[in-house]
Amino acid sequence: MPHTTQMHDTRPKTPTPRGPRHPRLLVTGGAGFIGSCFVRNRLARRDGTTIVVLDKLTYAGNRANLAPVEADPEQAARLRFVVGDIADPAAVAPLVAEVDAIVNFAAESHVDRSILDPEAFLRTDVMGVHVLLEACRVEQQRATGGERAAAPRFLQVSTDEVYGSVESGASTEDDRLEPRSPYSAAKAAGELLVNSYSVTYGLDTVVTRGSNTYGPYHHPEKLIPLFITNAIDDERLPLYGDGLQRRDWLYVADHAGAIDHVLEHGATGETYNVTGNNERTNRDVVAQLLARLGKPWSLVRLVDDRPGHDRRYAMDDSKLAGLGWKNKMPFDEGLAATVDWYRDNEGWWRPIKSGEWQAYYRRQYSARLAGSKEAT
Ligand code: NAD
Ligand code: TYD
Repeated sequence: MPHTTQMHDTRPKTPTPRGPRHPRLLVTGGAGFIGSCFVRNRLARRDGTTIVVLDKLTYAGNRANLAPVEADPEQAARLRFVVGDIADPAAVAPLVAEVDAIVNFAAESHVDRSILDPEAFLRTDVMGVHVLLEACRVEQQRATGGERAAAPRFLQVSTDEVYGSVESGASTEDDRLEPRSPYSAAKAAGELLVNSYSVTYGLDTVVTRGSNTYGPYHHPEKLIPLFITNAIDDERLPLYGDGLQRRDWLYVADHAGAIDHVLEHGATGETYNVTGNNERTNRDVVAQLLARLGKPWSLVRLVDDRPGHDRRYAMDDSKLAGLGWKNKMPFDEGLAATVDWYRDNEGWWRPIKSGEWQAYYRRQYSARLAGSKEAT
């Protein structure tokens, strides 16, 4: 048998630099809660990514969410901010033409507002998605004609709410969609449209369905930031119904990280659940944030329930785990960090809780609080 010697290369190994698969991104809704976290974290990796943010700056959009990027010259040089509407083809087309992928966070995102005024939800969450997809289709034709290397990838950020209320067990990606609010119905329509463009036109698309997300820079209309900021001011906390509804809570940096992971590694045409694996009743979440703030339970008031209120959301995340994604933030730590962030950043949320906010708050809560009951 011939003798073989193995040659060992003893020179120090320098890792081959491997950049992201999609270095030029269009991030729509990048001034919102989760989108801005995605932008901040992706640019902070300093991997050469350039990002164009397209954001309409609705009541929920806030350029201050990108202040950490703008304060860092190297990151700021890789960000371009465009104020515009995803439902406006003239604004969208030239931006889609210059990127490798689109990550669509832009949406009307609050269930209560969708109950008060559904129309804006249809315009952005359905028609906006359609306009983005049409722009991708044009780019696909350009790629076929040799005018660009490849068609852009399209990632649609969707929600666990498309499954509707889940009495027991956990939703898997193939389960029926049974949305029950104008918000979740619009989100379901948006993602079904995305899948139809994958099947019909062969666009490279992926969809993520995320759980209830929490963390810094969350607009104070949503449960956790509303209750933290109200409690800081010793104002009443309007808990809907019996407060025993259940949500799965996902830290914002984990949600943004999972979206990034699917963008880079997800299989075309597929949908991935993104969970926090932290199912809690609303009462438990509220008790925990009050304890961190050192505020009393007596601030909590039981108010008339949200019409059509989904009792429970829960998803199975084995498909995403199989793609190699793991969350980092435990719930107790994430909630404590979130409470502390709101306590330390009044300059961020106080301006939001003025102006248009006052009218919204009166419309949503005045009558409810007037008829509220003590929460035992
Ligand atoms: P958000 O309301 O904080 O931000 C939405 C952003 O989109 C804002 O910056 C707003 O100005 C912008 N926008 C709205 N309409 C637009 C339009 N027509 N054109 C361009 N920009 C527009 O929302 P979020 O909580 O960051 O949610 C981001 C995405 O994640 C949404 O698609 C939402 O459905 C989805 N999602 C949210 C959660 C959650 O718990 N927050 C959970 C799962 C999925
Ligand atoms: P929310 O943050 O609006 O998220 P979603 O409706 O998308 O789950 O609400 C989270 C839970 O908290 C939901 O069960 C409704 C409840 N809730 C209240 O009890 N009071 C409130 O004022 C708000 C905004 C929400």
